[in-house]
Order: sequence, then structure tokens, then C-alpha cells
Amino acid sequence: MKVDVLLGLQWGDEGKGKVVDVLTPGYDIITRFQGGPNAGHTLEFEGQKYVLRSIPSGIFQGDKINVIGNGVVLDPALFKTEVEALERSGHDLTQRLYISKKAHLILPTHRLLDAAQEQQKGSDKIGTTGKGIGPAYTDKISRNGLRIGDIEHDFEVKYKKAIARHEILLKQMNFEYDLDPIEKEWMEGVRCLQRFHWIDSDHFMNQSIANDKKILAEGAQGTMLDIDFGSYPFVTSSNTITAGACTGLGVAPTKIGTVYGIFKAYCTRVGSGPFPTELFDETGQKMRDLGYEYGSVTGRPRRCGWIDLVALRYAIMIDGATQLIMMKSDVLDSFDTIKACVAYRINGEDIEDFPFEINENVEPVYVELPGWVTNMTKMQSESEFPEEFNAYLSFLEEYLEVPVKIVSVGPDRAQTIVRYAEE
Ligand code: GDP
Ligand code: IMO
Ligand code: MG
Repeated sequence: MKVDVLLGLQWGDEGKGKVVDVLTPGYDIITRFQGGPNAGHTLEFEGQKYVLRSIPSGIFQGDKINVIGNGVVLDPALFKTEVEALERSGHDLTQRLYISKKAHLILPTHRLLDAAQEQQKGSDKIGTTGKGIGPAYTDKISRNGLRIGDIEHDFEVKYKKAIARHEILLKQMNFEYDLDPIEKEWMEGVRCLQRFHWIDSDHFMNQSIANDKKILAEGAQGTMLDIDFGSYPFVTSSNTITAGACTGLGVAPTKIGTVYGIFKAYCTRVGSGPFPTELFDETGQKMRDLGYEYGSVTGRPRRCGWIDLVALRYAIMIDGATQLIMMKSDVLDSFDTIKACVAYRINGEDIEDFPFEINENVEPVYVELPGWVTNMTKMQSESEFPEEFNAYLSFLEEYLEVPVKIVSVGPDRAQTIVRYAEE
């Protein structure tokens, strides 16, 4: 079987965790391939809410194997917190969670370097999640990183060398810190990691493909935060796109199957960086209130705005998305009018292809559609969809040229409607 991939098409927080959980029964293996604890994937079912950071969102469904792939950066201290929270709520992970020996470690000093670099950037700061993601990937690319598998090979020497190098950088930036308490927590995290199966995930994934196992790769962040194609430099430090699943798992492009692209019926962003359709008025505030748009990791209010089809079409192109999933449509249930950005006006010219840079000169050109003004949160099938909602879906499908396969009408696992189920 080929590997299916599910990824965010916007600036993250599209609802990936929820849908991965919904799709998990159809798969044998769920795997993360990039990012780290900058992710916050929320799942809700049976009246419980869980937020996952590094652990794949297939972890709640019985006997499924969950794999943290080589492309992920893992912070043992945060991993321990996550594991313990799940264990407290009665989920035993040790037999179901495998970790790639090639995944890179986020060291305690990576978190400090993240903070120091943000401080140095001042008003140009990225608004990172502060989890050490950038510095950990920097070390990986500059060939200074430490991997999970290194824990078993002269680890102390390698660790001390890395910390010494980081401390020089921190001193150069005049950054004040106290390493001892976070280092202690981190070492306890390493002991927690040792309870789990460390695997050669590249071989495991390819053997699983050969053995006809069904695999779902769970993206983190979103395409517009991709290091190559996102709104650089206001991006994360990994490839969040379909190609990232190949490098982050050791799976060839020929082995990729369905690509699920997931987006909100509107748009949000956390942290700094351009956002052409951002709303600063009461409409934006209404989206934030109704959608409870506050970061699941940092608690920061998310910036809100109308759906941006220029960016979305670009993301679909880069990802090769074959199926779309629309989330949080219920948040727009009470809006009389829905707007969708179909072009960027730059110096008087309307542009539909996502440009090199989006800055304050970009003015969104909107199409207005009538709202459905109907509570959709209890709907069970597409036959119940209001006419105006169907019109919105058709409009999106026509513009984006990819079918919307799933519609989500609320945060709970049960509030999910699969369309074209008969196919
Ligand atoms: P992820 O990072 O892509 O997994 O998304 P997050 O979990 O960070 O953010 C999505 C938020 O929206 C979470 O609080 C979810 O519980 C919630 N959510 C997901 N789908 C829906 C939906 O269809 N409607 C509403 N109202 N909330 C949703
Ligand atoms: P999930 O998987 C939304 C954003 C940060 C910041 C930029 C860089 O939950 O969708 P980083 O800490 O990665 O160096 O921050 O990327 N960011 C996210 N925004 N959802 C996420 O993950 C994010 N992960 C990082 O806010 O702007
Ligand atoms: Mg999130």
C-alpha cells in the first residue's frame, strides 16, 4: 500500500489532529514526519479533550502503531510530560509508540537559543513557539545535531560538546539563563524516552509498505509555514509539505498515495508575518470568539481573517493535494455574508498566482457569497447541508479544482461528515 499524507494548507492549526483521529480506523500505522512540540494537535471525543505535540494523533485508537519519524525534532522533557498526561488518563503507549533513531533531539540549550534569537530580532521577531525548533533544525542541517540513536553511543561526550558550543552563542547574545533546572528535567525526559521502542524507521516504513500495511502520515504546521514555500522568513524550520513526508520518513515519492489537504472555512495565523485577508474588526473578533482561536500550545490569540484562495491554491499545487477537508465550517454558521479572496491586487493589478513576497501592498480582492445562517453542528450527512453551504462548497471546488471530501462541523470526533461516501 502507498502512504497517504494529511497536511495543513494554511498557517497551521487547521484541525489536523481531529481528522487524523477520525481517519485512523482505516489505517494500521500513523506517523509524524516533521516538526516537533511546536505542534499542538487537539482531539475531542467522549467528552474529553487532548492536545498532542510530538505523539501522532492515532494514539487513541486501540492497536494502531504510531511512529515518530526521522524528520521530527524531539524534546525529551516535553515528550515525558505528554506521555505522562496520556498515561494518567489511562492510555498505555509503550507497545504502540515507536521512535526513529534518526529523529533529532531538541537540547535544553536549543530552547534558550530560540528565546535569545527572538529577543535579538526585536520587532522583527518570528513569534516562534519558543520550543527550540529553529536551533534544533539549524544544528541538524549544519551537521552538529544529536539524534535519538546517539543516546546509546558516547552520549555524554557528544551532549557536553553541543552544550558548550551553544553556551558560547548564548553568551555572545548576552542572554541570561539558568541551565541547571531545565537540564535536570531534560535528562529525566531522556530516561522516559528509553522506555520506548527505538527503530530504524526507514526500514520499518518500507517493510510496512511492502507488507501492504496502510499508513497515514500526519503533517504538522501548514504549507504556508513551510521553510521553502511559506511566507519566508515568517515560517517554521522544516518542510511541512508532501515532499517532507518523503524525507521525513525515508519513503520514495512513488510510494505516496492520497494527499489530504486540510483547511479552515476561514483562515488563521499565530505569530508574526504577512496575512493578506486578516481582519482587525469585529468580524475577525467574532471568528476568534466562535472558533475559540487561541493557540493550543502557547495560548496566544490567533489572528483571524477570510479564506485566502490564492494562498490555498498555491498550497494545493505544492502539495499535490488530491482530496480536501474543510474544517470549522460551523464557526461561520451565523454569518450573513461569507467572503473569499480570489486575487491579490498589487499596484493596481490583480494577481491570482501566489507572488514571491506578500507585504502591505497586497490588497485582497473578494467574492461575496450568502451565508447559510443555520446551525450545522448536529448535522450527520451532506443531505442536510443548507443550499448556501452547498453553494460555498461548489464555489471552492471550482476555484481549487480538487473535491472537498470531508466537512467538519464541530470539534468532536463525531462532528465529521464524509461526502461522496458511496465512491
Ligand atoms: P491542528 O494543529 O491542525 O491539529 O489544529 P489545532 O488543534 O491546533 O486547532 C484546531 C482547533 O479547532 C482545536 O481547538 C479543535 O478542537 C478545533 N476544531 C477542529 N475542528 C473543528 C470544527 O469543525 N469546528 C470547531 N468549532 N472547532 C474545531
Ligand atoms: P500545528 O501543527 C500554528 C508558527 C509559530 C511561528 C512560526 C515559527 O499545531 O498546526 P517555530 O516555533 O516553529 O519556530 O515557529 O510557526 N507555528 C505554528 N502555527 N500551528 C502550528 O503547529 C505551528 N508551529 C509553528 O507561531 O509563527
Ligand atoms: Mg495546532
